[in-house]
Amino acid sequence: MPCIRKVTQDLCWVGANDRRLALFENIFPIPRGVSYNAYVLLDEKTVLFDTADAAVAEQFLENVAGALGGRSLDYLVINHMEPDHAALIPRIIAQYPDVKLVGNSKTLAFLNQFFNCAVGERSIVVKEGDTLSTGRHTLVFIMAPMVHWPEAMVSYDATDKILFSADGFGSFGALAGNIFADELDFDRDWLPDARRYYCNIVGKYGPQVQALLKKAAGIEIKMICPLHGPAWRQDLGYILDKYDKWSSYTPEDKAVAIFYASVYGHTAAAAELLAVKLAEAGVKNIKCYDVSHTHVSELIAESFRCSHIVLAAPTYNNHVYPIMENLLRDMQALALQKRCFAIIGNGSWAPQSAKLMKGMVEELKDVRILPETLLIKSALKDEQEAELDAIAAAICADLN
Ligand code: FEO
Repeated sequence: MPCIRKVTQDLCWVGANDRRLALFENIFPIPRGVSYNAYVLLDEKTVLFDTADAAVAEQFLENVAGALGGRSLDYLVINHMEPDHAALIPRIIAQYPDVKLVGNSKTLAFLNQFFNCAVGERSIVVKEGDTLSTGRHTLVFIMAPMVHWPEAMVSYDATDKILFSADGFGSFGALAGNIFADELDFDRDWLPDARRYYCNIVGKYGPQVQALLKKAAGIEIKMICPLHGPAWRQDLGYILDKYDKWSSYTPEDKAVAIFYASVYGHTAAAAELLAVKLAEAGVKNIKCYDVSHTHVSELIAESFRCSHIVLAAPTYNNHVYPIMENLLRDMQALALQKRCFAIIGNGSWAPQSAKLMKGMVEELKDVRILPETLLIKSALKDEQEAELDAIAAAICADLN
């Protein structure tokens, strides 16, 4: 049976959910699953916007057929060639042999790389600003390179003012009938996964997302239809503002996240005591994470959310404790910037971690590192409490 939802009079959601996949891209835990969204436009010509992941092939193909209601498919618009959206292109071609594939020159190159299929006369190559009339609707193609792959583009239905935004404005999390953000408590239930999706998948490409936001600001948009997670038809300013903050590396909240690594609990004890001292000084909503027990994608999302980050880690094999080092490498890879850091090191002999963490943080753009620091030698001693107090005071002063 098709499992589809009407988006507008002419447009249908034909996506599908995967609640079995443990790791998105074989990296990111998705306990709430993921949706692969796709849309069918019924006009004088029919259009499918993207396909879906191979895992949901049968449901997706039933959905497309159900939405078409016996009509043939005239166009497949390929906004993004990553296999979570493109895996079923050969199945669509097999089922609708007259379909024309609409993409840019890079899209078609990727098509050949992934599928070794000659698209030839089947393809319509579009570039920035090109249009396609399907009858009542006019589609405009807008290039969005590196949001999240180089071939990425978005499609704008200039008739109904709908932006098909590819990965942009997407989220982890399977949908449950309610495909629109206004049918959900997005801020409570979806924002953390939307943030985690953005920061880890697209976070490195802030300038490219900013470029796309600038283009989007020049057109009237009544609805945003992404390839993952809820679609937006109300309060678009909310999600546009989040994207502006995330892509400009502006902290969402004036808040402190403490990330600690600890082998036997001594560094953890210092981190917990710092949290108490911050709370006693009036800081609210402090978050404290053991990096060994929280997935790095969550920590990255918190790094993008919070203005102030405390790093506390022991020395290990003359390096930073490896899980903390991995977090810092991820911050570098995802281009985190514009944050204030405080650093606490630990070492029973030859302590290196504070110096090495500082060096890694200094490689991030536009960061400040508080001069107040603490070097624990195995375990925090009473006489070091003043140093912890000084760190807490410096963070408070910087927050205010
Ligand atoms: Fe959801 Fe970049 O693919």
